[in-house]
Amino acid sequence: MSATANVTIHRSQFPDAVRRDLLKSLRTRCMNHKFHYDSVKQTQKWLALHQIYSPTRNDADCVAIYKTAFEAVAEKIKAKQVHVIGLGCGGGQKDTRLLKSLKRRGREAFYMPCDVSTAMVLVARQTALAVIPEENCSPFVCDLATADDLLAAFGSQFSLHDSRIVTFFGMIPNFEPEEILPKLSSLVRPKDFLLFSANLAPGKNYTAGMKKILPQYDNALTADWLMTFLLDLGIEKPDGKFEFKIENGGSDLKRVVARFHFSRTRQIKVDNESFKFRRGESIRLFFSYRYTPERVCKILAKFGLEVSGQWIAKSQEEGVFLCHRK
Ligand SMILES: C[S@@+](CC[C@H](N)C(=O)[O-])C[C@H]1O[C@@H](n2cnc3c(N)ncnc32)[C@H](O)[C@@H]1O
Repeated sequence: MSATANVTIHRSQFPDAVRRDLLKSLRTRCMNHKFHYDSVKQTQKWLALHQIYSPTRNDADCVAIYKTAFEAVAEKIKAKQVHVIGLGCGGGQKDTRLLKSLKRRGREAFYMPCDVSTAMVLVARQTALAVIPEENCSPFVCDLATADDLLAAFGSQFSLHDSRIVTFFGMIPNFEPEEILPKLSSLVRPKDFLLFSANLAPGKNYTAGMKKILPQYDNALTADWLMTFLLDLGIEKPDGKFEFKIENGGSDLKRVVARFHFSRTRQIKVDNESFKFRRGESIRLFFSYRYTPERVCKILAKFGLEVSGQWIAKSQEEGVFLCHRK
């Protein structure tokens, strides 16, 4: 592997844009979750957390649904060359398994790991290089939520006729669906394949399903990962306590919300702006919507994305969906 890597950085992650988003988060007391993946330390903590709590790392059946979905897509691809765009790629483990399925079928795969975090795209690149050559990997840093010209930015890297698979794995829980899905839909061209996965609330009773998955968030490792961001700002552990709660969100969906409640007043300064968190105040650090398969299909349809195949883990806690633009 060469000693350097070329990474394209979209202006949505230039320092002035990141500072604007951070100040907005602090003023509204609602953190943009992208700030939990920013640094190398946060990336490492999240990857460790993912390793322990994600069913894709510790439930063989969940691993199998991804494999079946990847084989199904690889079989449908007839072109010799195929481009995989991993939106919110994280460490790139799932995308790399897809690249393997494509390679097994004799396809030449190209990969664009796309994430808000430079550290993540570099980890994803390294993971993918076990399967594809360096020159086939083009890491791309951007904020999917704020960049409004990504189709054009991607356009410079792909030809109109390229066969493409867009992946959006484990991303939907952390966004307001009404905000991110129009963007996702605009990035999928009519002949593209979209592989989408969502964390689900298991069972027939939505509320009971939510209660069952709450411990996957309400634990010391998650609190430690979320605390990293607060510590960077100058907020200390004894300043407050974490609370993980189930709430009703929009679009008939429920979510787990993590808040930090201040038990003493803390003042911090970012650039020239001061923020005072008074005792009793709280800051929302994170949320994770949990879907059911029916809710996934319904909300995707609202944004012009049709589900043509779905694979649900036996635990009913995760599902992979193959979609197309209507
Ligand atoms: C829950 S992880 C999912 C990672 C991976 N797709 C997987 O399934 O293992 C969420 C990923 O989204 C990235 N992310 C968060 N906000 C983002 C944004 N606004 N634009 C692009 N990526 C974002 C994070 O850096 C993180 O890697």
